[in-house]
Amino acid sequence: MTSEYEIKRQIVDIGKRIYNNGYVAANDGNISVRVSENQVITTPTGVSKGFMTPDMLVKVDLDGNVISGKMRPSSELKMHLAVYRQRPDVNAVVHAHPPTATAFAVAGIPLKTPTIPEVIISLGWIPIAKYGTPSTDEIPRAIGEHLENHDAILLENHGAVTVGVSLENAYFKMETLELYAKISLLARLL
Ligand code: 13P
Repeated sequence: MTSEYEIKRQIVDIGKRIYNNGYVAANDGNISVRVSENQVITTPTGVSKGFMTPDMLVKVDLDGNVISGKMRPSSELKMHLAVYRQRPDVNAVVHAHPPTATAFAVAGIPLKTPTIPEVIISLGWIPIAKYGTPSTDEIPRAIGEHLENHDAILLENHGAVTVGVSLENAYFKMETLELYAKISLLARLL
C-alpha cells in the first residue's frame, strides 16, 4: 500500500506538472487524493501548486474537518468531497484552468465532436457544468448532474475538473482534455 508521504509527494509532483504545463497560473487549481474510505489529502488554499512541499498538504475527512496539516484546505474542497461522495470508484480529483479547454468553457461550447480515438475511449464527450461561484455549494451541485457519466467536466467561465481511479489517471485526463480542446480549436479554425 502507498504511504501517505508517498501520496503527498505524488500530489507535489502533479502540482508541478499542472503549473509547468500552464494549466494554472499563480495560486490557481487544486488536487486531492482519497487515502481511505473517509479520508482525503488535499492541496492547501492560496499557494502556487508549482511550488508545494509535502508538509503543506492537509488531511481532511469527507465532511471537510481537518485531521492533520498546518495550512487551510483548498477553498474548492466542497467540490472535491462531493466527487468522492458521489463516485466511490474515484480516488483522485484534479481541478485546473487549462487555457484551451477553459476557452471552450467560457465560449459555452461543450467538446462533443468525436475526433481522436484516444479521447473517445478515455473521456467520451465533455459537458459544461453550469457556472457556480468558486468555494460555494454551487459548483458541487452543478457538476453533480454530470459526474455519473463523465470523468472530465468543463466548469462554465472557470476551468475544468477531472477525476480518476488514481492521481496519475485523473491528471492524464486533464492532459487529454487540453490536447483534445487544442485539436478541436485548430480543426475549427481550418
Ligand atoms: P485554492 O488555492 O483555494 O485551492 O483555490 C484555487 C482555485 O483555483 C479556486 O478555483
